[in-house]
Amino acid sequence: MSAIDSARRVMSGMRPSGRLHLGHHHGVLKNWVRLQHEYDCFFCIVDWHALTTEYAESGDLQQHVMDMAIDWLAAGISPSSATLFVQSHVPEHAELHLLLSMICPLGWLERVPSYKEQLAQHPGKDLSTYGFLGYPLLQAADILLYRAGVVPVGADQLPHVEFAREVVRRFNHLYGGEADFELKAQAAVGKLGKKVGKLYSSLRQAYQEQGDGEALETARALLKEQSTLTLGDQERLFGYLQGAGKLILSEPHALLADADRVPGLDGQKMAKSRGNAIYLRDSDEVVEEKLRRMPTDPARVHRDDPGEPQRCPVWSLHRLYSSDERMHWALEGCRSASIGCLDCKSALCSSIQGELAPLQQRAIDYEGSPELVRSILAEGAERARDEARDTLSEVRLAMGLNRR
Ligand code: TRP
Ligand code: SF4
Repeated sequence: MSAIDSARRVMSGMRPSGRLHLGHHHGVLKNWVRLQHEYDCFFCIVDWHALTTEYAESGDLQQHVMDMAIDWLAAGISPSSATLFVQSHVPEHAELHLLLSMICPLGWLERVPSYKEQLAQHPGKDLSTYGFLGYPLLQAADILLYRAGVVPVGADQLPHVEFAREVVRRFNHLYGGEADFELKAQAAVGKLGKKVGKLYSSLRQAYQEQGDGEALETARALLKEQSTLTLGDQERLFGYLQGAGKLILSEPHALLADADRVPGLDGQKMAKSRGNAIYLRDSDEVVEEKLRRMPTDPARVHRDDPGEPQRCPVWSLHRLYSSDERMHWALEGCRSASIGCLDCKSALCSSIQGELAPLQQRAIDYEGSPELVRSILAEGAERARDEARDTLSEVRLAMGLNRR
């Protein structure tokens, strides 16, 4: 693949830490399911990342990986639209991580904002390890291996994507230039033919001298249309536009999901560690029981006290899972005290069940055929490796390694 396609390529990952809950579903998976039809998506179960913090409790890791795969598939991530795979099945992640570690300044890792935060979040663990410090670089390798331009993540991950961009810049700065790049680029311009070559040169000039972003886009589109160019020349000309050498790695961009925060059973953000989650595979009875414990608007002490949904976490879940009609019913009923909180919760329960039912049916099917899940992951790993090998062989060459 050439760097030119990176705008169409999505890469994201999730740590396998057990079954997924509504927060993952609403905040991440629904977005991925949409993206898989619009982009070339690589979704990775990052088991090595799990080991950066859970190295001492890794007994359940296999099971967590399997559970994550089943939950993804059940949620509608489709192996015919997206590539889903397990990080450790693609050893190229490790090699790229190693190679990038040679050029990654220690200070960059120490300054990643999440580093100190995460240390504080895991007070009982000894995280003064090499692996934990280096984990943003491992994440950068995950992304760069596929030359993904688009990385859907939550706001907490923004510093990591920014970090990956810095690594790319440093890499391209150190290794982006071919010795005779200018000459080769000029020769490639010659191959465009007189008319197109002239247009390319003037667009390049407009971008480099006046910073004309539109000219840059037009030139890129022009290059994409040139079906007779070799891939190497196309990449060279792409890099030459920005004055750089041939671009070996591409800078990724974060794609922030604008999903509402999903409240947990205590009204705080839903998270496994808070014990406030509803899981995708929770049975009807379990969901019902969990909702019963949920706090409501504190003003509704008695059944005939009117309430205000804006102050109630149950309402926030209605907004995510209920139909307009049911939301209207709950809003009016709460404010006029014509319904009780139990009525409101049992309606919410049906809404959630309505959305989870088809998903749970799929989950049951996959649970019953673990071989199928394993083969989906194996196929995903093969597809991922094909891409990863390409990138890695360019990276090796650029860094002076050559493996024949
Ligand atoms: N670090 C991410 C998290 O904790 C997971 C992750 C690993 C990831 N590799 C990635 C996300 C690559 C996006 C792209 O949530
Ligand atoms: Fe919350 Fe519904 Fe009770 Fe109103 S009726 S306080 S929205 S649970």
